[in-house]
Amino acid sequence: MTTWIDAWSRTDGDTRARALFAERFGAEPAGAWSAPGRVNLIGEHTDYNGGLCLPFALPHRTYVAVTPVDSDRIRLISAQEEGVREVDLAAVAPGTVEGWPSYVAGVAWALRQAGHPVRGFDIAVDSCVPYGSGLSSSAALECAVAVALEDLFGLGLAGTDEGRTTLTGICVRAENEIAGANTGGMDQAVSLRGQAGHALELDCLDDSVRQVPFDLTGHDLALLVIDTKAEHSHAGGEYAARRAECERAAELLGVGTLREIGLDGLGDALADLARLTGPEGDGSAVAEVLVRRVRHVVTEIGRVQEFVELLDDGRVDEVGAAMDASHLSLRDDYQVSCRELDLAVDAARSAGALGARMTGGGFGGSAIALVRADEVERVAEAVAAAFDDAGVRAPAFLVATPEGPAA
Ligand code: GLA
Repeated sequence: MTTWIDAWSRTDGDTRARALFAERFGAEPAGAWSAPGRVNLIGEHTDYNGGLCLPFALPHRTYVAVTPVDSDRIRLISAQEEGVREVDLAAVAPGTVEGWPSYVAGVAWALRQAGHPVRGFDIAVDSCVPYGSGLSSSAALECAVAVALEDLFGLGLAGTDEGRTTLTGICVRAENEIAGANTGGMDQAVSLRGQAGHALELDCLDDSVRQVPFDLTGHDLALLVIDTKAEHSHAGGEYAARRAECERAAELLGVGTLREIGLDGLGDALADLARLTGPEGDGSAVAEVLVRRVRHVVTEIGRVQEFVELLDDGRVDEVGAAMDASHLSLRDDYQVSCRELDLAVDAARSAGALGARMTGGGFGGSAIALVRADEVERVAEAVAAAFDDAGVRAPAFLVATPEGPAA
């Protein structure tokens, strides 16, 4: 038997958040807002290298009900825990707020840092974005808070793509500085700027985007998401280590970002790296690691371009090879996969998926598989059976379609 992670309807989600607020704070909220989690089709670990990626917004969203207050006090409640948390907005600084409230308080703090007149508020949070599954539940929370606060405090930012780009930067600051996770900007960008029916081609060099029509149903295809339920405790440290390696490689090569290398320059760049870090440099172990990291980033950016060209040509059923190649590169060169992700990808492919790869940061979380629409159940069952045979915890599934942004 397979487990499916359902998305709530927008009305249902709003109602849940409002009801939670009313029940625990004893008053109706001023309003309710929500923002989606995401999957990334391709372009992994490219965002913080000035690269390209291609995420889309999920129907699974985080809902918040909020009322502003005339002080700096933030009171937070969540459907997932008992009790009320409290944060003094005036005292928020890096390292001062623990756990999930840091994503909420971080957004208010970053808005204030940018000069926006934000005060305290009461907030109730509920979500159908599975937590810890690599589908960006944290970005969904940040972005829901961002659109709520910008609306309540009349900041006039959510009405334009330019304003939403500004909000993206606010949410990234919240995550990097207050929540302490040094992630890139992909998750927040798609949660705030994704469009229904489209994948978001995001150019992280200048934050420009292109909405790429992504119609799987019209091609009798579906995107199956496999939540492996694997959580890796060192994920944060490993992510930061990868990012540092990329920065080191860029510095050694004398480029601003690894994006600048390009597929044409890859051979020379790898030879340079080997020379610069070789026997006279840091030693060959370092060379080998940096070569692998750069090779992944540069080829992955190339795969995003290839994927997008196929979509533009209406050849959706041909993107599988790029997905497969992306997974191998993430597994062998970037070294961010894990046993459960490899198992999910291999099992989905053996069951007939056109392509499959891990999605998101890695070390656990989710994989995606492009499958024929009438084979979704069969592939999911085959993956669940492979997990059972391997004696690992049962995965959960959802079928992803591109839906609208934070609102
Ligand atoms: C996480 C980060 C993103 C991105 C991906 C990997 O989701 O939050 O910024 O780096 O990993 O592509």
